[in-house]
Amino acid sequence: MRIDIVSVAPEILKGTLYNFLIKRAIYKGIMEIYIHDLRDYGLGICKKVDDYPYGGGSGMVIRIEPVYRCFHKLFSERNYDEKIFMTPDGNIFSQKDAKELTYKKNILILCGRYKGIDQRIRDHLISKEISIGPYILSGGELAAAVVVDAITRLLPGVLNNPDSMMTDSLQRGSIYTRPVIYKGLSVPKILLSGHHQKIKEWIRKQSNP
Ligand code: ADE
Repeated sequence: MRIDIVSVAPEILKGTLYNFLIKRAIYKGIMEIYIHDLRDYGLGICKKVDDYPYGGGSGMVIRIEPVYRCFHKLFSERNYDEKIFMTPDGNIFSQKDAKELTYKKNILILCGRYKGIDQRIRDHLISKEISIGPYILSGGELAAAVVVDAITRLLPGVLNNPDSMMTDSLQRGSIYTRPVIYKGLSVPKILLSGHHQKIKEWIRKQSNP
């Protein structure tokens, strides 16, 4: 899978994206990630990417021309199965969405900043709008990193133990490790019993009470 991310703050993405899991996916050739600085497509010598909103109001809005230029350069090189805009008013991202995105070959993600982006970009260049939760971040970069992380760990061959993907904490109830007792707090006896069938049954009940 290949993911291209377009942003006016690429340094935030570089700082958050290349965690060990994503690095491993890239190293194994399972994932390719390319970060594009929208300013490279900006207007004039100042590489302007934003402007005041028509109708007034505070804050700056990302203009359509730099996004159009950047997207069309990328479109001339490959087809994108999904063109995603990260925005707090998008559809709330779920594990099901992450799973669906793993079937795509090429994904393009645009990160919002400032007050927002010109509506014409949303109407004509974007196929999906994603929010990672009902709160407003200062830009879409951290949200994009969350989405990329959630997708990457689901790609076949990324996790050393794919079984752990099926039983990770989202899908499972209580989980314990050593020590058996810490400051009087102990691990449930059943987990130490060595009785595999009973342990399995206990874990199943924990995850679907
Ligand atoms: N940009 C700002 N806030 C966001 C959010 N909650 N989800 C996605 N993109 C965002």
